[in-house]
Amino acid sequence: MTPITPSFPAARFRRMRSTAALRDLAQENRLSVKDLIWPIFITDVAGADVEIPSMPGVVRRSLHGAVDAAREAADLGIPAICLFPYTDPVLKTESCEEAWNPDNFYNQVIRAIKAAVPEIAIMTDVALDPYNANGHDGFVRDGVIVNDETVEALVKMTLAQAESGADIIGPSDMMDGRIGAMRAALEGAGHRDVTILSYAAKYASAYYGPFRDAVGASGALKGDKKTYQMNPANSDEAMRLVARDLMEGADMVMVKPGMPYLDICYRVKTEFGVPTFAYQVSGEYAMIAGAARNGWINGEAVMLESLMAFRRAGCDGVLTYFAPEVARILKT
Ligand code: PBG
Repeated sequence: MTPITPSFPAARFRRMRSTAALRDLAQENRLSVKDLIWPIFITDVAGADVEIPSMPGVVRRSLHGAVDAAREAADLGIPAICLFPYTDPVLKTESCEEAWNPDNFYNQVIRAIKAAVPEIAIMTDVALDPYNANGHDGFVRDGVIVNDETVEALVKMTLAQAESGADIIGPSDMMDGRIGAMRAALEGAGHRDVTILSYAAKYASAYYGPFRDAVGASGALKGDKKTYQMNPANSDEAMRLVARDLMEGADMVMVKPGMPYLDICYRVKTEFGVPTFAYQVSGEYAMIAGAARNGWINGEAVMLESLMAFRRAGCDGVLTYFAPEVARILKT
């Protein structure tokens, strides 16, 4: 596109900004509640309903609290919620078998929400870290996070979630080959309409810190995740990962974190034209919510501006802990 701009005063850009009505007419992008996915934390151990110190305003929820949140989301018009478990430390082992237990707390919550609020889409988290004694997303053997064995476990986890009623499988693990393995298993088990939103371009980011507090992985994590999550310096690699995951059967792709990686969002949307999501992660949330709580910024305005940035970059939607707050504002 070649923008045609006559010289002054034929062109006065301020004309179209001079009233709210004209600004509305000229507005290129809009935020909609329909583009939001709300991540919530769930737990069956003590600590539900207590605020997570590094995520002001965010709590872990019991089974009943999760059902209430799903109903709240549906009432607000939010199309999907995404569940992340805080697991009882006694259930965390090196072999992670609780991850694919059909009756684990996580799958119970999926079934309870499906029964009570069938219209909301449930997105899951597929990775071993909530169940792993060492906090990693994959099995650790002799200090190495092993790929192929982990993928087998992730497939079992995926099937248990799909059986429980999950609508969107969200592999956040960054193992190679997991999308193809999950897609084949879902097709094989007759789950033809269960979708996969791949964490295709997930970076090894320090912005995940508050999330690891929320799911109780901060203390457990040994080392870092740099052998499986992406190097923040890379952009072309993200395009190759998106292409790979699409070829393996992902229906939607995600860039994570969000705001520091808007260039990646833009490239993904323009180069592939597929449903593209950004995850405004816990550290991004904490920076905005924390500064707002201290009175250093106008929290509501910064929240809305940050979410509009994802739309401008081409994202179809965004995972954000602000989802209910922004939905309430957009409703009025
Ligand atoms: C782990 C996982 C992480 C997040 C979602 N799934 C953290 C990590 O990779 O260590 C981060 C989300 C956030 O920070 O809000 N499978």
